[in-house]
Amino acid sequence: MNVLIIGSGGREHALAWKVKQSPRLTKLYIAPGNAGTNACGENIALDIRNHTSVIHFCEEKKIDLVIVGPEIPLAEGLVDSLSAQGIRCFGPKQAAAQIEASKVFAKDFMARHHIPTARYATFTQLDDAMRYLRSVNHPIVIKASGLAAGKGVILPDTFAEAQSTLENIFVDKTFGDAGNEVVIEERLSGQEVSLMAFTDGTSVVPMLPAQDHKRLLDHDEGPNTGGMGAYAPAPIFTADMMNEAIKFVLQPAVDGMRMEGRPFVGVLYAGLILTDNGLSVLEFNCRFGDPETQAVLPLLETDLLDIADACINGNLANVNIRWKKSASVCVVLASKGYPEKAESGKLITFSPLPENAVCFHAGTKTESDQVLTAGGRVLGLTAWANDIASAIDTVYSNMSSISFEGMNYRGDIGYRALKGVK
Ligand code: AMP
Ligand code: GLY
Repeated sequence: MNVLIIGSGGREHALAWKVKQSPRLTKLYIAPGNAGTNACGENIALDIRNHTSVIHFCEEKKIDLVIVGPEIPLAEGLVDSLSAQGIRCFGPKQAAAQIEASKVFAKDFMARHHIPTARYATFTQLDDAMRYLRSVNHPIVIKASGLAAGKGVILPDTFAEAQSTLENIFVDKTFGDAGNEVVIEERLSGQEVSLMAFTDGTSVVPMLPAQDHKRLLDHDEGPNTGGMGAYAPAPIFTADMMNEAIKFVLQPAVDGMRMEGRPFVGVLYAGLILTDNGLSVLEFNCRFGDPETQAVLPLLETDLLDIADACINGNLANVNIRWKKSASVCVVLASKGYPEKAESGKLITFSPLPENAVCFHAGTKTESDQVLTAGGRVLGLTAWANDIASAIDTVYSNMSSISFEGMNYRGDIGYRALKGVK
C-alpha cells in the first residue's frame, strides 16, 4: 500500500513510525511532516488546505490510504473531498468531525443520546450568558464552541473572572469565530482519562486508556499546555469502567452519529472524567490525541493498516486488535518559553536510544542536515517496558541522550500510575 499521512506533530511521527512497521507498506509519504517523519517515509511540502493539490498528489503517487492526523483538515472536509474522488481515507467526514469542531453540537448530541456529561447551557449573546451566570450557584467552565487549538476552555474561579472571560469571547473576539457560540457547563472534579477508540461507524474498539498531563510544571502546576506527557494503560481505569465507557459512551456515540446520518469512521477520542457519581464526558475529539498516541501506539501489536482498512470497509468487527502486555510513557521535551512564546531554531543533538525507546519529533525541522527546534513541543521521548515503573525509569534515564538549548520537561509523568493517586 502507498500511504499518505497528513500532519506534522508528534502524533503523526508516531503514526508514521507504526505504519512503517507494516509488511503491507510499499511507500509512505507525510505531508508536511517534520524532521523525524523523514526517517519513516518521504516528507512532502503539500498545502493540506488545498484539497485539489492533495487529490492530485494522491492520484499521481497512486495513494491507497490517507490517514488524517489533525482536527482542522477533518473539520474542513478533507476526507469528503478525497473520498469524492475515490481516495480511501481513515478519518471522519466533515459532518462527523462536528463532534469536535462544535462543542455546542457535541453537548446537544450527548443530551439527545443520554451520554453522561456535565450540565450545560449554550449562548450566542453576552447578555444571555451573563444572566445565566448570575443564576447558577455551582462552579462553571466556559468553552468557546469552535476549534481553538486547545485554548478555548476557561475555568474561572470568581464571578469577575467569568464575566471578563465572556466579554473577551463575545466582545473582544479572543477566539474569533470559534467564540460565536459558547458553552457554559458545570465544573466537575475527578481524574481524567483519554479513551481513544477505532470505529468503522458501527463497531467500536477502544484502545488502551491513557492519561495526559496538561499542565506545564510538575505536580500539575503552571499554565495549561497542549500536553506535556502521557502514559498508558492508566491503571485507575478499571475493566468495569472500560465496560461502562463502551456501553454508555462509545457505542451510543457511534450509533447516534450513524443514526443522525453522520457515520463516524476513524478514531473517536472521549475525554473522560471519573467523578464520584460515575464517568462523564468532558469532550469528544475526532482524531488520535496528542501526546496520548505517542504512548499508546508503541503498545499496539496489530498492524495499523489492517485496522484502518477494516474501518473504511466497515468490517472492524473481524479484526482482532491486540496489545502488548506492557506499559508506555511519553515525556514531552519543550522549548524555553512554551506555551506563551516558544523559542525556535535551536540545534538538537541526539545519542542512540535502547530498543524499547523512541524519540518522536513534533516541532522540529531539518536545515543543512541539522535538526533544529521549530515550535513549543519539540520531541516526545517514549519508552515501554513490562511495567509502568520500568517504563518511567527508561524514559528518564535516557533524557541525557537528547539536548537543545532551553529544553525543559516534566519530571513526574506517570506519577499517578505509580502511587495510585486519587
Ligand atoms: P476540553 O477541551 O473540553 O477537554 O477541556 C480541556 C480541559 O479543561 C479538560 O481536560 C479538563 O481538564 C478541563 N475541563 C473541561 N470541562 C470541564 C468540566 N466540566 N469540569 C472540570 N474540568 C473541565
Ligand atoms: N491530548 C489532548 C488532545 O489531543 O486533544
